[in-house]
Amino acid sequence: QSLKIGLIPADGIGREVIPAARDAILALGSSIPKPEFIELLAGYEYFTRYRTALPDETVETLQNECDCALFGSVSSPSRKVTGYSSPIVALRKKLDLYANIRPVVSVAAEKGQKPTVDLVVVRENTECLYVKQETLTNTENGKEARATRLITERASRRIGQMAFEAALARQRKHLTVIHKSNVLSITDGLFRETVRSVPRLPESSGRFDGVEIAEQLVDSAVYRLFREPEIFDVMVAPNLYGDIISDAAAALVGSLGLVPSINAGDNFVMGEPVHGSAPDIAGKSIANPLASIRSAALMLRHLGYSDGADRIDNAVDEVIRRGDVLTPDLGGKSRTEDVTAEVLKRI
Ligand code: NAI
Ligand code: MG
Repeated sequence: QSLKIGLIPADGIGREVIPAARDAILALGSSIPKPEFIELLAGYEYFTRYRTALPDETVETLQNECDCALFGSVSSPSRKVTGYSSPIVALRKKLDLYANIRPVVSVAAEKGQKPTVDLVVVRENTECLYVKQETLTNTENGKEARATRLITERASRRIGQMAFEAALARQRKHLTVIHKSNVLSITDGLFRETVRSVPRLPESSGRFDGVEIAEQLVDSAVYRLFREPEIFDVMVAPNLYGDIISDAAAALVGSLGLVPSINAGDNFVMGEPVHGSAPDIAGKSIANPLASIRSAALMLRHLGYSDGADRIDNAVDEVIRRGDVLTPDLGGKSRTEDVTAEVLKRI
């Protein structure tokens, strides 16, 4: 029996950090089914050569041959480029990876101490403004741009269920619904109401009894996140708010280069560091590989290989705690491969 893992490094530092995640999985040896890696193409650079950012072959191989996947990062341009659309956004939709789960945890100075930041952002991954229905019209007062923001009961319900499951699995069992329904009472109102109704669904039948539910408007949620991060346990949010909150939370633990995620659906899981392609540091071998390595662990944990995941996570924590081999984003002087080697040694 083997574990078939699609590897999609894509652009920029994705190509420097995905090999680190692969090596961490390989270092586990026989504690997981034998990993088999399948390298797959996607990204902006691929688009500039072949006029598509996500070849069909990549999607088909993921669907038909892989048990799971690891995605690096893409360099999506900020201006509109005809024919281009982000492959990661497309992959999340095509594989119906409707939840993006992003744990943000600080490493305590001493082993066994409680971390000051220990939260999970559960981000809806398929709709909100990311349906990318934008229009531009010329009016007598100049240009007018509009975007559609889609919130459905179905997507809100299943992300709500995922968030309740996540809260149930944690010690505090506390869930905060993030929204802005004081202004967007229809869209965010539907999200808020639907998530709140999950414990009352017939299929829930008492399952989430122990979970305490709270809510916070998105702007004050960011404020409170910076002032008193310890109040949060699991946060559930529509796509865009979830994206912003998780990058903000990354600042609390020192670097975007530390924060992992998985894109999860009912039938597939794809690990992915929260950060982007970091063009400012790409090609210099100074990208922090720890977010990707932790994404590999998170993916394995989701598949039920929690011993392997623990071994990777403990090795990463130990490297951070020691603090002598770290990349520049964490104040260190080491290179990507040196940090990876430190982790591998400890796995
Ligand atoms: P970014 O996450 O790439 O970089 C933000 C800052 O964090 C930069 O200063 C970067 O050097 C630093 N950083 C990020 N990851 C790091 C790591 N592993 N080690 C050390 N430092 C790290 O976000 P930015 O600059 O806004 O976007 C750059 C490109 O990435 C854009 O084209 C954007 O579209 C794309 N992007 C792709 C994502 C994805 O593939 N899922 C997610 C976010 C952005
Ligand atoms: Mg982001």
